[in-house]
Amino acid sequence: MIDTPDRVCAIRWRENALELLDQRLLPEVARYRRLNTVTEAAQAIREMVVRGAPAIGVAAAYSVVLAARARYAENPQSWQTLINADLALLVESRPTAVNLCWAVRRMAQVIAGLAGDPEQRLLMEARGIHSEDIAANRRMGQLGAALLGQRGAVLTHCNAGALATGGYGTALGVIRAGYAAGLIERVYVDETRPWLQGARLTAWELVQDRIPTTLLADAAAAALLRQGQVRWVIVGADRIAANGDVANKIGTYHLAIAARYHGVRFMVVAPTSTVDLQMVDGAAIPIEQRAADELLNLGGLPVAATGTEVWNPSFDVTPAELVDALVTERGVALKPDATQLARLMLF
Ligand code: MRU
Repeated sequence: MIDTPDRVCAIRWRENALELLDQRLLPEVARYRRLNTVTEAAQAIREMVVRGAPAIGVAAAYSVVLAARARYAENPQSWQTLINADLALLVESRPTAVNLCWAVRRMAQVIAGLAGDPEQRLLMEARGIHSEDIAANRRMGQLGAALLGQRGAVLTHCNAGALATGGYGTALGVIRAGYAAGLIERVYVDETRPWLQGARLTAWELVQDRIPTTLLADAAAAALLRQGQVRWVIVGADRIAANGDVANKIGTYHLAIAARYHGVRFMVVAPTSTVDLQMVDGAAIPIEQRAADELLNLGGLPVAATGTEVWNPSFDVTPAELVDALVTERGVALKPDATQLARLMLF
């Protein structure tokens, strides 16, 4: 089993199946869903049982093990061709989080070189992806905390914590390391409509770690930044283009604008598996549009006028010029741009 450094373990491989902590039920109920097929796994990713770009990538890697087991049992000679449909199903389940494609591509490279029963070798690769993600988060935690400077408050959006990753978190990794170093006195957490990842997940993680946490409605963020206590806005990312533009949870862009206006610095924390050099800039990044129902209802209750139409993009793109620091496990880019991204990715 992977040694996750937190109380929270979003993804685990147990008794030959994938188990996902059902994040739709948190914080009231902590229940794992056991998945035995790639079809179930793709559905779980689509329906937000697991969410957060790196966590989706890790879950997809384990899902490939489930797919390979079934395809090999179906036809040991041609399973490597048959599995392509499963890989496509996984990649399509969430279009913006590039870690999903990255993890599936990495598993596909292993598949191409396999002979005989694939399960153990693929499981080893999935475990590798999982533990590398935790190690990357630890490293980013240290690198990001080193940028914080004078003690103060920070603001975060959505959930980029242990739940959104293999463990420890990206933005929350920096916040955890910064708090441990005495550099953060309080974390302000955007509620993050419509899924409430901030209220339900980030606040839950921080309160468990006994880090002082204040929740605010998304619409209150600019007023908070105006007050002057917040020194950094710290967020994760779903995909970063070659020029440093950042796709992240809807609402990130206006936080970046408000931060720049008020002289608050803006930090993006993401592993290099989130960087997509195929995207020249943010305009090319596919933005997931989600169901109208997510805005029309809240907790199963209708909250909007019947008959209204809905625009529900799950992510927005923050231009690189609004990002003061991009923290990856390979190093930090201050004022990231195409040259710095290329340097970070040159390995
Ligand atoms: O729709 P979600 O909950 O998957 O969106 C998650 C985010 O936008 C996170 O900020 C991002 O994936 C980074 S998680 C380390």
